[in-house]
Amino acid sequence: ESKLMRLNSPQMNIIYKACIKASKSLIRDFGEIEKLQVSSKGPGDFVSVADKKTEKIIIEELLKAHPDYGILSEEVGVINENNKEKRWIIDPIDGTSNFLNGIPQFAISIGYEEKGEITCGIIFDPIKNEMFFAEKGAGAFLNNSRIRVSNQKKIKDSILVTGGPRFSSKRRSETFDEYIKISNRVNIPIRKYGSASLDIANVACGRFDGFWQWELNYWDVAAGIIILKEAGGFIEFLKNSSEKSSLKKNVVATNSKIHQELLDSLLKKNIE
Ligand code: IPD
Ligand code: CA
Ligand code: CA
Repeated sequence: ESKLMRLNSPQMNIIYKACIKASKSLIRDFGEIEKLQVSSKGPGDFVSVADKKTEKIIIEELLKAHPDYGILSEEVGVINENNKEKRWIIDPIDGTSNFLNGIPQFAISIGYEEKGEITCGIIFDPIKNEMFFAEKGAGAFLNNSRIRVSNQKKIKDSILVTGGPRFSSKRRSETFDEYIKISNRVNIPIRKYGSASLDIANVACGRFDGFWQWELNYWDVAAGIIILKEAGGFIEFLKNSSEKSSLKKNVVATNSKIHQELLDSLLKKNIE
């Protein structure tokens, strides 16, 4: 457990333990994907037995440590609804479609929120054994190394990543229009990896210069918020005037140097 030697908050240690425990079962399941049942949640949205199993292990661990803390987790929803001061925000598998197809690009993402602010978080890719983590004021790390965002200053030379749109998205055509618009400004074709948390983590460690995606959920990005901030990046949430749920997140996450140029390049239709 030397990975977290430099980070000592009790919350961090709790998330770390839950994450490691859940990842063991997740790694086993990844090796046996064919045998897993898959059930459909809705168009373009699948939930596997592994999602639920991973979530159960994480939640059990977190509740063992703090039975009273609030939880917002993708599959089960809200636990201890009254505790809004201290909450865990969980995505048990971010990148389920990759997972189910044997593509090693998915992560466990857990953030800790205190009075509305994420103060620490972990994004763990168990297959590549890459653990991204950060705690407020203490920097961001990938395994044993401190990470920083890239120094890229121009969109033209940036390597950007995006995701979506879902089949059911009402912004489908805008999303494609926007994709074309940005594509025409970059030398390197835009990447699409299918795991929003890892996309943000990869901006934090300088592999990508920027990421944007509409209609994400809070659990996709919660841990990424603190990891990117502590790595020197900038994450912004744009409001959609027609959006009902406050949980939906329209995300622009960058190395901070290209932030304004990326914002200016987006279509921002119906986005404030
Ligand atoms: C999904 C991934 C994907 C993004 C989707 C998310 P899930 O999360 O982050 O990259 O494009 O919008 O829902 O369903 O695999 O946890
Ligand atoms: Ca997700
Ligand atoms: Ca998920």
